[in-house]
Amino acid sequence: MTGEGTLSLWRNARLVSMAPGASWDGVADGALLTGDGHIAWAGEGGAVPASMRARITAEHDLGGALLTPGLIDCHSHLVYAGSRAAEFEQRLQGASYEDIARAGGGIRHTVTATRAASESALLAQALRRAACLMAEGVTTLEIKSGYGLSAECEARCLRVARQIGAQLPLTVRTTSLGAHALAPEFAGRPDAYIDEVCRWLALQQAEGLVDAVDVFCDDIGFSPAQTRRVLDAARSLGLPVKLHAEQLSNQGGAALAAEYGALSCDHLEWLDSQGVASMAAAGTVAVLLPGAFYFLRETRLPPVAALREAGVPIAIATDHNPGSAPGLSLLLMLNMACTLFRLTPEEALRGVTEHAARALGLQDSHGVLAPGYVADFALWDLEHPRELASNFGHNPCRQVVRGGRPISFAGGMPAWAD
Ligand code: NIG
Ligand code: FE
Repeated sequence: MTGEGTLSLWRNARLVSMAPGASWDGVADGALLTGDGHIAWAGEGGAVPASMRARITAEHDLGGALLTPGLIDCHSHLVYAGSRAAEFEQRLQGASYEDIARAGGGIRHTVTATRAASESALLAQALRRAACLMAEGVTTLEIKSGYGLSAECEARCLRVARQIGAQLPLTVRTTSLGAHALAPEFAGRPDAYIDEVCRWLALQQAEGLVDAVDVFCDDIGFSPAQTRRVLDAARSLGLPVKLHAEQLSNQGGAALAAEYGALSCDHLEWLDSQGVASMAAAGTVAVLLPGAFYFLRETRLPPVAALREAGVPIAIATDHNPGSAPGLSLLLMLNMACTLFRLTPEEALRGVTEHAARALGLQDSHGVLAPGYVADFALWDLEHPRELASNFGHNPCRQVVRGGRPISFAGGMPAWAD
């Protein structure tokens, strides 16, 4: 892919490749060679191989900036309409997230607003949200459905997600989450609703709308038996699975998902040792979502030490959604992963690069700066990568490059700069 053609040289940066074994301090005077959208070479500026030097046709002086892989937000619910700020006020008055959901608010409140919104209105709002994430260095974003809960509206939301990937210089992976909450039409008939969700998957797949399948397995979501039926349907279509697991209660969802070789299990505050062992054996990524933990004022911590000890790869994501995590800053999640969950800054950055790629099944192409991987990277006005996690509340991102092409944010909307 980068065997013969012309190359661009990006030099004079502190290169933090996140490749396994690479120094956390990065390579001073680091450089990259890119061609055809991919990385041809990464290392010390002085060590560019002579054979490759001859093919360089463009050169970029990065002025000593910190250079990392483009960030990957591997869990978001970006497509929805309406606001849930009134529920924030209700919780401040003492109502719990579960109380509000059981009373018909929560996810179902957003479903009503989303069903009433046109595809173009949903797209316009979601594009602005994606732009916020991208301005902080995000080059790959997972987007779930789950606020439509009907065949038509779930497909509408997945189409919007695909449109975001088509209109912005951004890699989008879509996840079908019809089993997010019980559609109001199926009140008292959750099993009949699950039949529908399973039926939709084939239609969504035929339209090219779905990269993975997710279920909210919880007391206020779906039972393990119902979850299993959706996972079976996904498996019969050859679709990879993930799970909202062990967020508000322990359902054994992580062990169940691991049985299906899940890409990831997400949230995990209630994960037990059996769940950890099952995830480790299956190579399933633990996606931790400190924004939801913070916003819902949870107190039970995910078992980070046990995950580490078992060698389960840990990723971090925004979980952006209007109810439990309305933030749009992946950098803030790095900070919170360290302050709230006690991850190291290096674990946190790996959680939005190498391990986030793995949570999306993109570990062979995204998330590290090494030959053969996509040339997605971010440049930061920082001296050391630990500052990505220690700072918060401002954006030190100087430049975002996707597929070897710089992105401009003129007018706030990302577009190719060249
Ligand atoms: O990941 N837990 C389920 N789903 C979302 C919240 C959705 C909502 O409240 O709108 C989450 O936290
Ligand atoms: Fe979520």
